Amino acid sequence: MTTMARLETPFVSTLPGRYYYDPAIYEMELERIFSQMWVCVGRADAITGAGAYEVVTVGRESIIVIRGRDDVLRAFLNVCRHRGARLCNEASGKLKGSIQCRYHAWTYGLDGRLIGAPNVLSDEQFERALFGLLPVALEVWEGLIWLNLGDDPASIEDQLNEPIIERFGGYAAFARYDVGNLKVGKRIAYDMQANWKLVLENFMECYHCGPMHPEFCRLLPGYKTGDVSDYVNGEAVSLAENVEAFTITGKASRPPLPGLLQEDLRHYYGFVLQPNVLLNLLHDHVVMHWLIPNGPGRTVIMCDWLFDPQVMARADFDPMDAVEIFDIVNRQDWEVCELTQLSMGSKAYQSGGVYVPEERHIRAFADFVLERVR
Ligand code: FES
Ligand SMILES: [Fe+2]
Repeated sequence: MTTMARLETPFVSTLPGRYYYDPAIYEMELERIFSQMWVCVGRADAITGAGAYEVVTVGRESIIVIRGRDDVLRAFLNVCRHRGARLCNEASGKLKGSIQCRYHAWTYGLDGRLIGAPNVLSDEQFERALFGLLPVALEVWEGLIWLNLGDDPASIEDQLNEPIIERFGGYAAFARYDVGNLKVGKRIAYDMQANWKLVLENFMECYHCGPMHPEFCRLLPGYKTGDVSDYVNGEAVSLAENVEAFTITGKASRPPLPGLLQEDLRHYYGFVLQPNVLLNLLHDHVVMHWLIPNGPGRTVIMCDWLFDPQVMARADFDPMDAVEIFDIVNRQDWEVCELTQLSMGSKAYQSGGVYVPEERHIRAFADFVLERVR
C-alpha cells in the first residue's frame, strides 16, 4: 500500500459528469424536482390587469399564468380539454376576457371554466364543469410567482423558510429587505450553454471568486479567500473600507432600502432558494436570478435588479452603476459554467471531480439531487 492510499482525502466527490449532460437524468430532474417543488417563474407585477398573461414552462408543461377579473393570478396547463391544442402560443399578452382555442373554438373564462363549446353545450349529456382548464398551484411569495405541479403540494413556506432561516439565523433580517415591495429597475436575460446545476453549484461557492471576479472582490474583499462555507446564521460579507456601495464605482448613489437597520448597511448576503432562485441582498438594491432549465446543457437565466419604487420614481434614477458590476460578475460566472459543461462528457470526468474544502458544503446540493433523481 502506498503512502498516498493511506492518506485521508479532505476532498468530497462531485456528481459524475453524466449528471450534467445525460438527457435521461435531465428528464428525471424535470419530473422529480421541477414538477414536484415550488418553482419560481417570474414576477407578479409583470402581469397587470384582467386578461394579462404569461406563458411559462415548468418541467415538461407549458402553463398559462393569467390575471382574472377579480385581480387574482391563476395558473392553468396550456392545453385545450377538447383535443389538446395549445391555447396560448405567445410568451405574453392580454386577452379580452376569455381564452379561446383556435382549433374548434372551445372558450374558457379567465378563471379556467369552460364557458363555450360550439354545438355541444346544448347537449344535456355534456357536463362542462368537468372540462375546465386544469389548474396549477400558484403562490405569490415576495412578489414572485411560484408554481407547483405536484398533486398535493406542501406549503410554500415549508420549502422556502428553511434556507432563509439557516442563512440569516431567523427570518427577521431577510424580512427587513422587503423584497416583495421592490420593483424591477433593469432586467437582463442570459441564454447560456450549461446545465442548471452548474449555475447553482457555482453560485454556492466562492472558491472561484479570487481568480474569476476581481471587480467583485475589490468591493467585497472577504470573498478573496474563497471560503463562504461558514456564512450561515446571519454572517455576512462586508464592503471594503474605502467602498460606499456595491456599484461599479464603489460610490453610493441611492439611499438604503427603507427597512434596513444600521448594521445591515455594509453587508452583502447571497443565497440560493432551491431549485431555481439566487438572491443577492445589498444595502440599496437586490439582485435576483431565476433559472429556466432548457435542456441538459442549456439554461436561460433571468436577472432582475430590484430597487425601492420611491427611489425609482425620482427623475435622476439610474440603475446602471448597480447593473454594470453584477452584469460583469454574471458573465464571468456563465463563462466558467460553460467551460465546465464542455468537459462533462469527457472520460476524465466520468466519475466526477472533487469539491475542495472551501466547496464541500455544496455536496448537500449534490445529495439533494441524487435523493430526488435516484
Ligand atoms: S382542440 Fe381546442 S377546441 Fe378542439
Ligand atoms: Fe461567481
